[in-house]
Amino acid sequence: MESILQEWISLFVRWAHIIAAIGWIGSSFYFMWLDASLKKRKGLPDGAKGDSWAVHGGGFYHVVKYQIAPDEMPEALKWFKWEAYTTWLTGFLLIAVTYYWGAKGFLIDREVMDLEVWEAIFISVLSMALAWVFYDALCKSALRKSPVLVFAVLFVAIVAAAYGFQQVFSARAAWLHTGVIVATMMTGNVFLVIIPNTKVVVADLKAGRTPDGRYGEIAKLRSTHNNYLTLPVVLMMISNHYPVAFGHPYAWVLVAMVLVIGVVVRVFYNMHEAGVHGKMLYWQWPVVAAMVVAMIAFSTWRPDQVEVDYVPIEAMEIVAVNCTICHSVSPTNEFFDEAPGDVKFDTLEEIRSFRSKILVQSVLSNNMPLGNETGMTAEDRAMLGSWLRAGAPAE
Ligand code: HEC
Repeated sequence: MESILQEWISLFVRWAHIIAAIGWIGSSFYFMWLDASLKKRKGLPDGAKGDSWAVHGGGFYHVVKYQIAPDEMPEALKWFKWEAYTTWLTGFLLIAVTYYWGAKGFLIDREVMDLEVWEAIFISVLSMALAWVFYDALCKSALRKSPVLVFAVLFVAIVAAAYGFQQVFSARAAWLHTGVIVATMMTGNVFLVIIPNTKVVVADLKAGRTPDGRYGEIAKLRSTHNNYLTLPVVLMMISNHYPVAFGHPYAWVLVAMVLVIGVVVRVFYNMHEAGVHGKMLYWQWPVVAAMVVAMIAFSTWRPDQVEVDYVPIEAMEIVAVNCTICHSVSPTNEFFDEAPGDVKFDTLEEIRSFRSKILVQSVLSNNMPLGNETGMTAEDRAMLGSWLRAGAPAE
């Protein structure tokens, strides 16, 4: 009963989270494009930086941007902030439902660090808070005069965090948490910097004061970070079924590569939308393609994998001991009434049909058994791997 409830809650929260994220990222992409498309034309009102025309849903839209603000505040002003807030809130709910509620299976790997459930949850929440404190201090530090340097330090810090999480959590949770702390910085930017700064500007205008342009500049730096971090975060959020990425012993190197790919793609679009054409746009996609190939090649480099002599009957025993407590027609594990994901290993035929999946989940990564509940050893994994690679022979 509990597992059915958990599954449904998880599905509905995931649904809400993805919808909120589409709203946030969609509006963010739209405004990046809008900003880049603005043209200064004759006949625009005073204080207008430019305007833009678009066609959508059978009508024409004419948008004018005021550099700091119009002379008079409009009656109704739409603020874009709940997209970001609800994305973070539903994301936090989702991590609570999957990784806190199911901490023993998904958050903790006792082979990595033998944490109590409360300790693991505490570290998870603390990491989000610390990430924000660090990032905010970085943006306010003396380095802020050089946005490139700020971003370089941020890059190193994110990769270091990925490495750090790998020493504490299960591989899957480590990778996800890297995405979570970056997403927390992005939401913090909206909640604690961009919106409050804009409110100061609006209050100044209402009171007839000239707003300080500094507020706008600070907000712009933060929103530029958000723009470059969006794509890597999305990949980290959707990778929880890809142990080829998070299950690698050097997953933090893959995180660094994902960051580069995401940033370079954004560089292309930002330049393209700003009207840049020709040679300046030749390098980005080749770099992305090369990085993707490098990532895949790197993921196949597995110095930890060893070929050992296998004994079929012992390999089958390893599956029986470590897997069929859950992956069976009638699981004996207390949390599962049915085989999770309808994946069953009761017969040799079934094991063979899932050969490559088992390799990915239990040999190339430690993703299964869930939470290493059975304490599966490295020797077991090596033996299972050699046997599966040989085609899982009966004898
Ligand atoms: C404690 C229960 C449990 C044990 C033990 C367990 N699994 Fe799983 N397994 C799960 C759950 C839960 C899922 C669904 C995972 C998810 O939703 O991400 C799953 C999913 C899988 C999948 C499907 C992954 C996919 O791509 O969708 C494979 C393959 C798998 N397990 C293999 C194994 C192997 C091999 C073992 C033994 C070495 C094992 N599991 C032991 C609970 C378990």
